[in-house]
Amino acid sequence: MSTNRFDYQAAFTRNIGWVSPAEQAALRTKRVAIAGLGGVGGSHLLTLTRLGIGAFNLADFDSFELANFNRQTGATLSSIGREKTVVLQERALDINPELDLNIFKTGVGAHNAAEFLADVDLYLDGLDFFTLEARRAVFAACNCLEIPAVTAGPLGMGAAVLNFLPGGMTFEDYFQLEGHAEEEQLLRFLLGLSPAMLQGRYLVYPEAVKLAEHRGPSTPMACELCAGIAGTEVLKILLDRGDVITAPRGLHFDAYRNRLVKTWRPGGNRNPLQRLGLMVARRRFSRKFSNPSALSGADAGDRTTSIPQQILDQARWAPSGDNAQPWCFEIVDDHHVVIHGHDTRDHCVYDLRGHASQLALGVLIETISIAASEHGLRVEARLRPGQPDTRPTIDIGFSAEPGIQPDPLRPFISTRTVQRRPLSTRPLTASARAQLEAAVGNDFRVVWISRFRDRFRLARLLFQNGGLRLTLPEAFETHRSIIQWDSDYSADRIPAKAVGLDPGTLRLMRWAMASWKRVDFLNRYLAGTLIPRIELDLIPGIACASHFVIMAPQPATTLDDFMAAGRAVQRFWLTATRLDLMLQPEMTPLIFRAYTRDKVAFSSNMRSQRLAEKLGHRLAELVLPENIDHAVFMGRIGSGRTPKARSIRLPLEKLIVSE
Ligand SMILES: Cc1cc2nc3c(=O)[nH]c(=O)nc-3n(C[C@H](O)[C@H](O)[C@H](O)COP(=O)(O)O)c2cc1C
Repeated sequence: MSTNRFDYQAAFTRNIGWVSPAEQAALRTKRVAIAGLGGVGGSHLLTLTRLGIGAFNLADFDSFELANFNRQTGATLSSIGREKTVVLQERALDINPELDLNIFKTGVGAHNAAEFLADVDLYLDGLDFFTLEARRAVFAACNCLEIPAVTAGPLGMGAAVLNFLPGGMTFEDYFQLEGHAEEEQLLRFLLGLSPAMLQGRYLVYPEAVKLAEHRGPSTPMACELCAGIAGTEVLKILLDRGDVITAPRGLHFDAYRNRLVKTWRPGGNRNPLQRLGLMVARRRFSRKFSNPSALSGADAGDRTTSIPQQILDQARWAPSGDNAQPWCFEIVDDHHVVIHGHDTRDHCVYDLRGHASQLALGVLIETISIAASEHGLRVEARLRPGQPDTRPTIDIGFSAEPGIQPDPLRPFISTRTVQRRPLSTRPLTASARAQLEAAVGNDFRVVWISRFRDRFRLARLLFQNGGLRLTLPEAFETHRSIIQWDSDYSADRIPAKAVGLDPGTLRLMRWAMASWKRVDFLNRYLAGTLIPRIELDLIPGIACASHFVIMAPQPATTLDDFMAAGRAVQRFWLTATRLDLMLQPEMTPLIFRAYTRDKVAFSSNMRSQRLAEKLGHRLAELVLPENIDHAVFMGRIGSGRTPKARSIRLPLEKLIVSE
């Protein structure tokens, strides 16, 4: 290789400005060790070479293959079958022929970690995610030799970075891997690296995660982000530029989600938050680990549960008003399940004619259909004739049909959730709107209420509607019975923290809701509904990208009409989740309007009845006066955080009945 045209100063002069000439000279004297020269390690090497680092110790035992093409900088047609160390050495020397390289062709492990780290100023981890034993050995050696160590993990379309500096928390202390089986170690490594799990929301094809086979999906963007972020950490550590975040603090940037999270887990994986996360992750993955054939996706022959059980286990994530889950399931055979529905009219003032429950049944049927598509099954749903509307029975038939593809909404069934707190006011993109409008199908239409003036008018209406809700004696028992006070998750109700109130107001509400007398007293003398209405209705009513109303082709009157509407609602909501948008239904103004239109006496309080009538007219003016009777579902939408507290669901065992 010719060196006659190379000049270090000239080659790296454009670094000067962000590094001083003296710092550039210092970088030239540094030696960095990189283990693993795949997607992350290969990019690390070339990035640091261009930064002007003068020496490297490089370890990898592997050769390039076609499956590396999507992300590994060294993987090209001409490099297939060649050793990664050889190819990357050539690439790096082509940038700086004066590099001083020590190559470890057989990789690195406990046996040669000390040699690999000899005279090294910093270690940069580029090992494959699944290579835990060697990783632990190298980090332990770094700790003994007081060498700063940096690990950057490519996660989805983002990167998470952790730095372990001499004297600080060690890798082993943070991840707590000692004594655990391999699968548990992998979970601990993943959750420790990315406590925020920002990437979890957009994994659209979970079948690609094949933990037992040590394979997972990856992107080139994540590898480049890792190199960019880790390169910056290396610069700061080597040049002593200060303010380096060290474990138990970490950084996770997700380009897809437009989010940067600074994570902090004192105690690492011992932290209670991590322990909770690990518990959930274990439950999710345990079946996959114990049943490798289920991991291969196509032959998803999960031997522990039947296909109808697997489908219903997904379908139970269908949302319902107040998380009431007004259904149970009967599995007749592999081709036939029965939904036994009921409504909540006897105790819920928002469901006096069962319409909210009927919508939820439609949502459930659509969810079953989406979950069944994963198994190549088509769903036929038939309302059994002769049953009372209060207790509808629906027969679900599954039939295998060649060519049925997994529905792209399938991955979002369990991640979809309601967000009742303020959302971003950034307008929806034209493409997002178009996808949401397409999601409801040809029969239904979406009306948007997006302009600030209109959102403000609707927020005011919601504020007044909130007054109606919170002073209605008939709603008191409903509200009291649906809130679960002491937990962030509720299987059959709504956790208090998911309601959208600040902790102080929540405490006051808890006190007041012990009796109607207290509520009435607060309302009469202390304007008790004011703050809750500001927090629950006014602010969120403005703070969103848009409100939406889903319109049916004709006014919904029958059970079939409401179930068809529910199916459209679920496709709309899941599409919103796929687009990384949050949504909150705003059903009570529609419900009260329908009551007053149809002269349903929903309250003994005449003032409430009159207020509902007034608000109903105003809602009609705001939406589409000539079409308001077609409205079946209403809510607000926008980008937002995943709520910390959410309703979960009853376990499948509790929902399955025998005939
Ligand atoms: C038909 C229907 C009506 C709903 N109405 C409201 C509503 O008016 N206000 C609200 O905040 N949430 C409403 N929700 C949201 C549910 O309370 C929520 O979906 C349920 O508690 C489950 O929580 P999850 O969506 O987080 O899984 C409604 C949901 C459905 C399906």
